[in-house]
Amino acid sequence: MKQTAILGAGVMGETLLSGLVRAGRRVDKLLVGEKREVRARELEDRYGVAVVGNVEAAQKADTLALVVKPQDMGALLEEIAPHLRPGQLVVSLAAGITTAFIESRVPEGVAVVRVMPNTPALVDEGMAAIAPGSHCDEKHLAEAESLLSSTGKVMRIPERQMDAVTAISGSGPAYIFYVVESMIESGVHLGLPRATATELVVQTLVGSGRMLQETGTHPTVLREQVTSPAGTTAAAVRELEKHGVRAAFLSAMEAARDRSRELAEGS
Ligand SMILES: NC(=O)c1ccc[n+]([C@@H]2O[C@H](COP(=O)([O-])OP(=O)(O)OC[C@H]3O[C@@H](n4cnc5c(N)ncnc54)[C@H](OP(=O)(O)O)[C@@H]3O)[C@@H](O)[C@H]2O)c1
Repeated sequence: MKQTAILGAGVMGETLLSGLVRAGRRVDKLLVGEKREVRARELEDRYGVAVVGNVEAAQKADTLALVVKPQDMGALLEEIAPHLRPGQLVVSLAAGITTAFIESRVPEGVAVVRVMPNTPALVDEGMAAIAPGSHCDEKHLAEAESLLSSTGKVMRIPERQMDAVTAISGSGPAYIFYVVESMIESGVHLGLPRATATELVVQTLVGSGRMLQETGTHPTVLREQVTSPAGTTAAAVRELEKHGVRAAFLSAMEAARDRSRELAEGS
């Protein structure tokens, strides 16, 4: 089995590490690059994984998952690039960092895959999109897929779709939480205790999500099933339309896509 290193063990890095361990990856085939001593001990105690310097990880690993903040990516690549060799795979989870940015900083022949994960990966229900760089073959994509599938679903996309994917599934959990917050607040305004409103909304969300996933039925059909003529749901949906909620979603996601583009250009 090949050696995999995770460089940058913050929130997302630890999520990936714990997913891989739970998915049955051998801990002796995993390495973590972490500079803070306290954090290194914590990860060693929690997962039994070896924590090493970035250079040692770059020398030993076949696959390197880079999970640092976008603004730290340049410095990390500068540190590890002299120790990389053709045939290795670099998987980047940093938002807005293009495969071209990484390829221009690593030796020729190092394969690069770019990933847009999302936070439900924390509960193994993530949605990760992966895009190949220019020296990537099927074997590299399959390896990236196998890494990310430890924390949820994985979809292959061309890199030109990455900004749209960032706007939809990368930022997506935030929109859902925003809707949940709004519905809970509404429940409170209607006189429900906050705990009651919260439980009602969260289970409604989970149940609706499972219906979408398990029935495969189009959301419009599912919505129509709840909307009887001149009934309560119809009255609510009319207000949502009147306030332009559908149009607001489109504008919001266009704004997220444009911001993702700007950040990528800035890198
Ligand atoms: N789509 C999404 O929802 C989503 C969600 C989460 C993350 N992400 C992506 O995942 C990446 C990580 O985000 P995060 O939330 O996990 O950030 P984070 O919690 O700040 O984790 C980044 C970690 O990298 C460490 N680090 C920084 N420079 C390093 C270096 N040169 N070598 C080794 N470690 C280094 C940091 O250590 P120090 O704290 O000591 O600097 C920190 O522990 C980001 O690029 C982000 O775009 C995407």
